[in-house]
Amino acid sequence: MTTLADNPDLAHHGDLELAPGLVDLAVNVLRPEPPPWLRQVLAESLATLAAYPDPTEAETIVAARHNRPANEVLMTAGAAEAFVLLARAVRPAHAVIVHPQFTEPEVALRAAGHQVDRVMLDATDGFRLHPEQIPASADLVIIGNPTNPTSVLHPAQTLRAIARPGRMLVVDEAFMDAVPGEPESLAADRDIPGLLVIRSLTKMWGLAGLRIGYAVGEARVLGALSRAQPLWAVSSPALAAAAACFSPRAQNEAMTTALQVDVQRAYLLDRLSTLPQLRTYGRARAPFVLVETDQAEQLRLKLRERGIAVRRGDTFPGLGPDWLRIAVRPYAITDRLIEALSTILG
Ligand SMILES: Cc1ncc(COP(=O)(O)O)c(C=O)c1O
Repeated sequence: MTTLADNPDLAHHGDLELAPGLVDLAVNVLRPEPPPWLRQVLAESLATLAAYPDPTEAETIVAARHNRPANEVLMTAGAAEAFVLLARAVRPAHAVIVHPQFTEPEVALRAAGHQVDRVMLDATDGFRLHPEQIPASADLVIIGNPTNPTSVLHPAQTLRAIARPGRMLVVDEAFMDAVPGEPESLAADRDIPGLLVIRSLTKMWGLAGLRIGYAVGEARVLGALSRAQPLWAVSSPALAAAAACFSPRAQNEAMTTALQVDVQRAYLLDRLSTLPQLRTYGRARAPFVLVETDQAEQLRLKLRERGIAVRRGDTFPGLGPDWLRIAVRPYAITDRLIEALSTILG
């Protein structure tokens, strides 16, 4: 019999766990709405809607942020679009995805007709990646850093060790801006052969509905992605928001938020550690934590009854029915979660 663990529903995402009135610990967007100054930027951009969008300014600003020339940046309709463009642009002989991780890269590759091989990281090893796990024949490797849902931040050195000529290394850094100082980011590293870094502005800035992200990497690779992209794929408001999110003031605010996430995550982990029925593996560095428990499904449903949505883990390859992903939130929400968990678990 095929079970969900063998054949997980890759199209499931945290937003499907939400319903009106539920406290959201299922989706990993860091704030409930964009900050007022960003909403102002979006509102002002409406006056430009008669013109077709031009990504030049946003690309120049993003490129400067990552110390790259502008032709090494491509603005996309969220990180999700970048995976689709990648899948359309490449012809890998052996594509490898490091799991457990966000499932859209695999969905996009399969939808474009590519076969995908999975390398599974081990919870008891702290979901660590060992470069020798990547098959020598892999000419496309995709990995998340920090990884959704494990929250593990792989060392840049480990990722460099899997890059080589003739292999494309795609690093999904959608949550990297939530790691203070971004010590393991490869976005500014221009010496790695075949590197493509994919980033999102969705999580940090509460912009999931706007669709804005970007890819950085070799101009040749980005040219191929760009040719696969529909004309005017990224709207003027999205481009205006991207440009604004890299102002010095916005970057300071992002740093403050990232530091706050660190403290809130430590609090969440500390409180979870008082519940012996829940286990965590590896060092969490992203704005969510992954927990294992024998009663995950029951717990998730009972939390829902108490008004709290957490994300099921069984739709991620490599995890099974015993996993839940919980977003890092302000203390009062964490307290409410822990209170509910304590009551349910007795
Ligand atoms: C790891 C990861 N990468 C990329 C994305 C997609 O981000 P975007 O909203 O920019 O398409 C998500 C969304 O949940 C994600 O978790």
